[in-house]
Amino acid sequence: MNRQTEVLSSADSARLAGKKIVWVTGASSGIGEALVRQLVEEGHFVIISGRNRDALLTIQQPTPKLIRVLPCDVGDDGAMSDAGRALAEITDQLDLVIACAGICEYEDDLKLDIELYRRVFNANFFGVVNTLHYALPLLANSRTPVFAAVGSLSSVVGFPRAEAYGASKAALSYFLDAVRADTSRVRLRTVLIRPGFIDTPLTESNDFSMPFLMSPQQAAQRILRGLEGKRSIIDFPRRLSWPLRLLGFFRPVWYKLCAPRITRIRKLRNT
Ligand SMILES: NC(=O)c1ccc[n+]([C@@H]2O[C@H](COP(=O)([O-])OP(=O)(O)OC[C@H]3O[C@@H](n4cnc5c(N)ncnc54)[C@H](OP(=O)(O)O)[C@@H]3O)[C@@H](O)[C@H]2O)c1
Repeated sequence: MNRQTEVLSSADSARLAGKKIVWVTGASSGIGEALVRQLVEEGHFVIISGRNRDALLTIQQPTPKLIRVLPCDVGDDGAMSDAGRALAEITDQLDLVIACAGICEYEDDLKLDIELYRRVFNANFFGVVNTLHYALPLLANSRTPVFAAVGSLSSVVGFPRAEAYGASKAALSYFLDAVRADTSRVRLRTVLIRPGFIDTPLTESNDFSMPFLMSPQQAAQRILRGLEGKRSIIDFPRRLSWPLRLLGFFRPVWYKLCAPRITRIRKLRNT
């Protein structure tokens, strides 16, 4: 039996055993890695993506039959076209896709560095569009297809320094809403996941306090539990999501009372 046949039979046997065939992007670290470990523990067959092939291979090592490595840069259209072909060779069906790949870059002094905006949008927004593009024909072959993408609670209100990151996640939120509307007569569930602060490489260099910081394992548990339910938005932790949603409603409280305490800008640059 060659490697390809062996992998196909792994996906098929997962399907026969009533398990899901899942594609997770951003699987090489943090929340994505924790999701993969929990999904595999439950016996699901998981295709894992990220740019760092070595990290993906390390994650695959303990359970090679349940994990297939598919390295790709979600923001690179050419690489995604190749990945799309490779994906279709691994499986003809996806039951669940979790688009978790993302980056965070903050901007100091409102520099409006357009390259920074393009980098952030490329991974966080266009990366998800690319992921759905290649996943959709395979999701169509599932009886219970779910497409979930990881946004952020930071898009609920405008956070200082987060113009690029927060806007990319807000764009993602609208994109998923529109996809939900467009697929309202067909069998596709679309889920937006909005975590608060999670202790991962992405938040490692944050130099501000991160209330209610959670571990990636806790985040993965919340996400998988949420996906078992029927919700279209999975926000957590509630201790952070409820106050933020309330502030999103009473906007003057946030912009006139809270934001002035956290912004670092004291005067506009004039050069
Ligand atoms: N940590 C938090 O507090 C927090 C809060 C809210 C939302 N989120 C979101 O959660 C998601 C996961 O972040 P994390 O906290 O787990 O951070 P992380 O550990 O840095 O994980 C980010 C993942 O995305 C992958 N990635 C980044 N750019 C990519 C690209 N262009 N193509 C393919 N893969 C790419 C990275 O892998 P490679 O480097 O191997 O490509 C890595 O696996 C992100 O979308 C993030 O915005 C995080």
